[in-house]
Amino acid sequence: MANLQSHIHANLLQPGFEFETIFQPNRKQESAFRFRARHINGRRAPKVILCDDARVQPGKICDVRVRNVRKPESRQRGYIEVEFLRQRGFQLDEKIYVEPLQLRKLQALLESGMNILLDGPQGSGKTVLSRKVAEALGMHYVFFNCSAIFEATDFLATLQIRASETGQAETVWMPTDILRALEAAHARPSERYLIFLDEFNRCREMARNGIMPALDSTRKLYNPITGSMLHIPPNVMWIAAINNGSQFTGTTHVDPAQMDRFAPLKMGYPPAEEENRLLAAKYPRASRREIDRIVRAANAIRQDDGLQVDLSMRATEEACLLLEHPNFADVPNDVLPDILKSSFCGRFLGRWDDETTDAGMIWQSIVRTLEI
Ligand SMILES: Nc1ncnc2c1ncn2[C@@H]1O[C@H](COP(=O)(O)OP(=O)(O)OP(=O)(O)O)[C@@H](O)[C@H]1O
Ligand SMILES: [Mg+2]
Repeated sequence: MANLQSHIHANLLQPGFEFETIFQPNRKQESAFRFRARHINGRRAPKVILCDDARVQPGKICDVRVRNVRKPESRQRGYIEVEFLRQRGFQLDEKIYVEPLQLRKLQALLESGMNILLDGPQGSGKTVLSRKVAEALGMHYVFFNCSAIFEATDFLATLQIRASETGQAETVWMPTDILRALEAAHARPSERYLIFLDEFNRCREMARNGIMPALDSTRKLYNPITGSMLHIPPNVMWIAAINNGSQFTGTTHVDPAQMDRFAPLKMGYPPAEEENRLLAAKYPRASRREIDRIVRAANAIRQDDGLQVDLSMRATEEACLLLEHPNFADVPNDVLPDILKSSFCGRFLGRWDDETTDAGMIWQSIVRTLEI
């Protein structure tokens, strides 16, 4: 047994060798490595394994590669320094659908630590996905809506007027959730933070320039409270979301240099069978047959080239919510058409009974699809 062990270890202690392990935060304050592990493929390692990669999820299996084997030196124990390769078992919860190829891309991008830009029509799951990613990776989640940003400094702090103790008006800097998260990330290097910049193209274009250095290799942001540059630690990752297209009139142009700081990921609506599954799980009292009619009507609208409109999953959810409500349980005739007049047509310009408007054309599509 002793021989077998030593044979295995001799082979392992070579740079380039890959194995799986589980890290824990390294409690040694003065150490240059945030994480430590004790096992190599489930066997006890001859030396402690150390890693300082911010992508490590403590307590979960990951793959690593030996970078260096340090022999014991005077008063210092030997250790195995490894390079982080990937976290095992990345799995989003089943309440979110992501197209399988996009999911592979997402996982690879998350592993690389790159900034990700979710681009998709309204109600296609961008905001929900960002939250699920943080859950799946055990990260602190910071939601930040960019539509309230007017100045470049607003990302980290805003000036507010309040009454002082003597009743005089005074101006104070209020830190934003981003600043609080960055400070927490500095204070707790073994924990990870996902900052989600929602509605990224709904803030003033010039103001958005303020966050550019945070998103490239500079990884710094001007902190108006201290008047100095704040370093973005490696345990912070950025995901942003935009609605891209001329129909989104409240948006501003994200210029190519701003775009270039992100790896884009296109989101679309789930295919019919997946939307059926998601809605049935969320609205268990709604009949499957009626959910299917809602999804068929929605997809006919989304896929109609003449209409050129996006119909949010919020619309199909709203129709299911009404349908399963006790208020509609005793309506004797088919109540769905009436629900869709508000939940679908009501989201667009015009009236359901005016065929010259978007709402009217959508109603016509519903009539054709459901043979009303
Ligand atoms: N792919 C999806 N999987 C599961 N649920 C989804 C998906 N897409 C949308 N939904 C549902 O639709 C609703 C809206 O989703 P979400 O807020 O994430 O949309 P969004 O893409 O961020 O939209 P917007 O561009 O308007 O901000 C959520 O309640 C969610 O339940
Ligand atoms: Mg959103």
